[in-house]
Amino acid sequence: MEKTNERIKVAVLDEMPEKIGRTVRIGSLEIALFKLADGNVRAIENRCPHKGGVLAEGIISGEHVFCPMHDWKICTTDGKVQSPDVGCVKTFAVKIEDGNVFILI
Ligand code: FES
Repeated sequence: MEKTNERIKVAVLDEMPEKIGRTVRIGSLEIALFKLADGNVRAIENRCPHKGGVLAEGIISGEHVFCPMHDWKICTTDGKVQSPDVGCVKTFAVKIEDGNVFILI
């Protein structure tokens, strides 16, 4: 059986400051939402795979976020932890429509 993606409005694009993460809760899911300097929006699991740092509080540089706890560098596009550390966080598809930001889960 095919599972249909659910589309949930999580923000208004113009109200999102660049490079400042925000935490979005959808049921039991906790997602870190970022507007990058290039205007793209990324949504990733809000929990660092190292020791659970809150990624929405991390520093954004380009498409990467640096975990606020021990500075692991994580790609917000594919969720991969960058070398020399290893790991991965879940990423979520984002859709912008009429100035609204939706997450597909
Ligand atoms: S908890 Fe994220 S780097 Fe340690």
